Amino acid sequence: MSKSKKIGITGLGMYVPKKVLANKDLEKMVDTSDEWITTRTGIKKRRIVKPGTPSSVLAVEAAKRALSQAKIKPEDLEVIIVATVTPDMPFPSTACFVQSKLKAKNAAAFDIGAACSGFIYGLVIAKQFIETGLYKNALVIGVEVLTSITDWTDRNTCVLFGDGAGAAVVEPVASGGIISTYLGADGNLANLLYMPGGGSRHPASSQTVNKRMHYIKMSGSEVFKFAVRIMTDAATRAVCDAHIACPDIKLLIPHQANMRIIDSVRKRIGLKPEQVFLNVAKYGNVSAASTIMALCEAVEEKRVKKNDYIVLVAFGGGFTWGSCVIKWSY
Ligand code: UT7
Repeated sequence: MSKSKKIGITGLGMYVPKKVLANKDLEKMVDTSDEWITTRTGIKKRRIVKPGTPSSVLAVEAAKRALSQAKIKPEDLEVIIVATVTPDMPFPSTACFVQSKLKAKNAAAFDIGAACSGFIYGLVIAKQFIETGLYKNALVIGVEVLTSITDWTDRNTCVLFGDGAGAAVVEPVASGGIISTYLGADGNLANLLYMPGGGSRHPASSQTVNKRMHYIKMSGSEVFKFAVRIMTDAATRAVCDAHIACPDIKLLIPHQANMRIIDSVRKRIGLKPEQVFLNVAKYGNVSAASTIMALCEAVEEKRVKKNDYIVLVAFGGGFTWGSCVIKWSY
């Protein structure tokens, strides 16, 4: 199959649990304040699941909406890719649970681990599958139940995260499509953002539980500085490869980790505030679900229309990062 074939997004869906956890609620749980959280992160609230709700439940809701928008029946789906750091369980993959719940019996299914960059990694994989002709369509999902790995006694991290899911159907498109992509990683920086317990290095034991190893650990300010530099670099690369310039960008849709990170990236790239989509105030950081949830809302709010150039950019644990330019197809 020719590489000049246009591959784009034909359907989007998102789902967030109903329950809202506001900054004021966190004031009762740890030594923090609405004022600190708002000024340091831009987050006002986040959505949280009922304890015990697995990622696949959120993923399926988002997936159903994306499939219906793309007018694809579950049985016609060829591959399901789920990006998450909070899978239902270590194995089988969350993608397999999603495949079963959707009754997408003809779809291959697997998870990818690229933390907050996971959706963009998944989109790039899907694009290659369709470009090579191996599959005619793909469902890419970013989903997290980060509240299941949040240490509610650690004010440095517990104010940041939330739960949610977003999904995109990827297919050949008549016009527009994914124009440029860029992925990167630096595994030397793994220990700045990670969850140490539960894998083969530190299998779950009473010791790992007592040492609180099954929670997110983050060196916030180091991560912050790296995020600003690498998201600026990644977005710039995708824009250059797409042979477009800043004024051509309708909307930058960044990973929603922190309003200050997003604002620094925007200024470094040279974009106006209205060229950037923000929903961090409503949902906090939803890792792999963050960028796709932001894309969903941007399209729903008609901030993106047919033939607009948009830039997705994300950064996360690994470290990993990724970006792409899409000329919107519908
Ligand atoms: O998803 C991908 C990756 N994640 C990110 O991109 C997140 C990156 N990092 C950040 O967003 C920011 O670093 C944070 C929001 C986590 C922290 O903001 P900061 O401006 O980097 O603050 P800091 O870590 O330098 O801490 C400043 C102070 C400290 O107090 P002292 O040591 O100066 O007395 C913290 O203990 O703020 C304190 N602090 C808090 N105070 C009230 C930290 N968390 C809180 C809190 N409430 N929740």
